[in-house]
Amino acid sequence: MINKTRKRIWLVIGASRDGIGAAIAKAAVKQGDRVIITGAETSPLSMPDGVETYHQLDVCNTVEISALAKQFSKIDVLVNCAAISRRDNEDDIDIFRHVIDINLIGNFDVIKTFEPAIIGAKGTVINIASMYSFFGSPKVPAYGASKAGIHQLTKSMALKYAPKGVRVNAIAPGFVVTEQTQKGRDDQEHYKAVIDRTPFSRWGNPDDIAGPAMFLASDQAAFITGQTIIVDGGYSIG
Ligand SMILES: NC(=O)c1ccc[n+]([C@@H]2O[C@H](COP(=O)([O-])OP(=O)(O)OC[C@H]3O[C@@H](n4cnc5c(N)ncnc54)[C@H](O)[C@@H]3O)[C@@H](O)[C@H]2O)c1
Repeated sequence: MINKTRKRIWLVIGASRDGIGAAIAKAAVKQGDRVIITGAETSPLSMPDGVETYHQLDVCNTVEISALAKQFSKIDVLVNCAAISRRDNEDDIDIFRHVIDINLIGNFDVIKTFEPAIIGAKGTVINIASMYSFFGSPKVPAYGASKAGIHQLTKSMALKYAPKGVRVNAIAPGFVVTEQTQKGRDDQEHYKAVIDRTPFSRWGNPDDIAGPAMFLASDQAAFITGQTIIVDGGYSIG
């Protein structure tokens, strides 16, 4: 259960580029929580109002993750948004490995290293999966494999941490307008195909994902764990 006597602390990993992580960070600030964000870059594209601190963090660097984890005795909500895709280039073995390293192994390392702080707060973890957790794509085979891994890892981590009172869930967004999808949106055929398949006839925006994250982090979701919630404007139902 959420501790109402102090402000909850959110750590949003991968919130530096005004994408999904930043939207989640802003929504958490708006509901009165304390929010810390990270990103791969030396500084964020913009610092959302009310966010306490920005930390540069490479999720492939175990030493960096441990150093950051030492600064926190309690984390109420850990959000794992760090990921890359290398559309049309993921057949290259080094690139394939790099994508898996960040998107799957890096996020696992973050959860593992922050484990004492999350358990200490009886907190919750929100991972970010994808449509490619479920669908194949020849253009992003590594990204898809990593996101299928996140879907699966979410269940395993949920089982592991349930006895400690920690819930672990994921959100699988549909296609959302962010820097990560710029290359895909430049491909007019792909851009239009997403709109045509989405019953709401549009790409998502980062705020579409923030609401479900607030829900998953709340007491309203106290009996939900190990789930990947699809937030895609209906893309996957047709
Ligand atoms: N945009 C979409 O359509 C979409 C759809 C499904 C899932 N997602 C997922 O949502 C999450 C956020 O993506 P986004 O679209 O907002 O993109 P984004 O590019 O805005 O955010 C990605 C974040 O990951 C961070 N990052 C990249 N490499 C890193 C590394 N080595 N170490 C630490 N951080 C690193 C970046 O600094 C950035 O903050 C990702 O997990 C992405 O896969 C996005």
